[in-house]
Amino acid sequence: MNTTTQRYTITAALPYTNGPIHIGHLAGVYVPADIYARFLRMQGNDVAFVCGSDEHGVAIPMKAKKEGISPQQLIDKYHAIIKQSFVDFGVSFDNYSRTSAKIHQETASGIFSKLYKDGKFIEETTQQLYDAEADQFLADRFVTGTCPKCGNEEAYGDQCESCGSSLNATDLINPKSAISGAVPTMKETRHWFLPLDQYEDWLKEWILVGHKKDWKVNVYGQVKSWIDEGLKPRAVTRDLDWGIPVPVEGAEGKVLYVWFDAPIGYISSTKEWAEREGKNWEDYWKAKDTKLVHFIGKDNIVFHCIIFPIILKAEGSYILPENVPANEFLNLEGKKLSTSKNWAVWLHEYLEDFPGQQDVLRYVLTANAPETKDNDFTWKDFQARNNNELVAVFGNFINRVVVLTDKYYEGEVPSPGVYSEVDEQTLATLRAYPAVIASSIQKYRFREAQGELMNLARLGNKYLADEEPWKVIKTDEERVKTVMYVALQIASALATLSEPFLPFTSAKLKKILNMEQESVASPGKEATLWDEISTKEGLLLSGHKIGKAELLFSKIEDEQIQEQLEKLEVTKAANEAENKRMEPQKETATFEDFSKMDLRTGTIVEATKMPKANKLLVLKIDTGLDIRTIVSGIAESFKPEEIIGKKVTVLVNLAPRKLRGVESQGMILMTEDAQGKLVFLNPDTNGVENGTVIS
Ligand code: MF3
Ligand code: ZN
Repeated sequence: MNTTTQRYTITAALPYTNGPIHIGHLAGVYVPADIYARFLRMQGNDVAFVCGSDEHGVAIPMKAKKEGISPQQLIDKYHAIIKQSFVDFGVSFDNYSRTSAKIHQETASGIFSKLYKDGKFIEETTQQLYDAEADQFLADRFVTGTCPKCGNEEAYGDQCESCGSSLNATDLINPKSAISGAVPTMKETRHWFLPLDQYEDWLKEWILVGHKKDWKVNVYGQVKSWIDEGLKPRAVTRDLDWGIPVPVEGAEGKVLYVWFDAPIGYISSTKEWAEREGKNWEDYWKAKDTKLVHFIGKDNIVFHCIIFPIILKAEGSYILPENVPANEFLNLEGKKLSTSKNWAVWLHEYLEDFPGQQDVLRYVLTANAPETKDNDFTWKDFQARNNNELVAVFGNFINRVVVLTDKYYEGEVPSPGVYSEVDEQTLATLRAYPAVIASSIQKYRFREAQGELMNLARLGNKYLADEEPWKVIKTDEERVKTVMYVALQIASALATLSEPFLPFTSAKLKKILNMEQESVASPGKEATLWDEISTKEGLLLSGHKIGKAELLFSKIEDEQIQEQLEKLEVTKAANEAENKRMEPQKETATFEDFSKMDLRTGTIVEATKMPKANKLLVLKIDTGLDIRTIVSGIAESFKPEEIIGKKVTVLVNLAPRKLRGVESQGMILMTEDAQGKLVFLNPDTNGVENGTVIS
């Protein structure tokens, strides 16, 4: 295949430092980006793989307030946790920076100033939402309301997470301050707007015409629908005291919009890296032959395909992304992952429960990667994929090869004899794999690529099962040498080809096979190991000595899965409890007030649905005084037949009222359980006569 060396700048979305990262981040952005970057390096390309923490924006001071610490303390805390998670999971960034770094402040300010001087902004004083109580302008996450596009009632001032629309705060219907809950008033303020509309024709040409074929349909489709709807100028400054000060005179108290500065973080991170490594950062951002690829989740598409490219274009000297392979979302056990609701598998917690098993998670997340649609992570699937695929196929094959080589040849790779037809076929199939896997990776189809890697392990497993060297050894030792030689070539190919997907396993396997010294491809090196699988007789030559067997994967037991599911149950219960807002105590009632109420025990003797009403049941209640009709709004919680004979508490002297033409003569008392389900308030009254007074 021998691709010529190419320069790449690979970026992965800068995570917000308002919480640790979870499997959704890993599956959607960081694992695919890492697979891609590792693959490119293995091909001898010149790669800058950069990321960093996103430390500005409204989310940061809001979360800091909630945790009772300063914004600086908050970002320091999560920056450290997040950075460590990336190291732990083998995400091989060349540099991980942060947007509070001086170099970033300078870079972002610099780009803003240049656009300002070049007259690329519109400066305008407009009415903006304002929270008088909190003395704060409301933009972005400071304000929620109904999305004008899809009706989602919890849209944010800059974006609706339900339909993905990018919004201006003033677009929201029924806006509400996220700080105080107050209905905002309007107040005048001056801001700088990027006139996105002026770039429409250019965007159409660049993306809609230029990238129709090579961008993912989900990405292309979103971009197209935004452009078709018409773009509007967008404010790139905010009235806020957390962020990068607007570098313009008279802009005191204003900072850059987080989505203006954050993507520039990719550039600052590259600068930081280049300075450290003695490279020229401009090669990675300004050289026309550099390929820029952004890995992001789908909620970031508008920013990476429209806003940031417009910033770069307006600046004038930068390259544009060659692709933005955004993923859809990963769910957890059927529900949307959520940092604030703690509905997540946190990476740092995963490692405590499954120490050393980073590759298992990487594997499962890639196998279920939400590449074309939202996907679900379940613990049962996690267990099954580990036990049935990694342990039973990959691990089992490697273990057999290494143990048998040790047993028969004291670890020395034997010399093959004459190949049988099966051997020839197997070797030919093996030689095709590097190109097959590479082609899927180049198309950003990582789950397909990893599936092919597993097919290679299956090929090895099947080959051994069919050739049965452990039986043949008793009758034909020469034949076994050939079989083991072929099997060892498959094993060494797996060690190499698994590196982008399962870096820890690959390293371990290379150590077992004693092929570590050959593992690093460097820019300009002619043939890489990846290619040599196809071109040479094999990677492990006769006489090469391999090491001892070590377990690559281990079985995950039911109890471990149960534990994880229980953890989620606890979260669910805690969320439900939190959601049940405690109603404040009502006004004082005097004793007389209370004694006016005539509460009695009763029994439901009849129940029918009220015609044409979803919620109402018509009940006949034996109150001890009489059998009377009570209309009750419980039809969504109970079927008529299941409540007949139930003991209830009845307020018998409530003034009668007509509901749908039926007179209701009282009320039965109800409450809700923790799940919000209605239950009868029927204290243990079995054996108590109907009509007994409750006091
Ligand atoms: N912090 C953003 C998020 O988590 C992503 C920022 S990507 C960047 O959604 F381009 F702005 F860096
Ligand atoms: Zn919406």
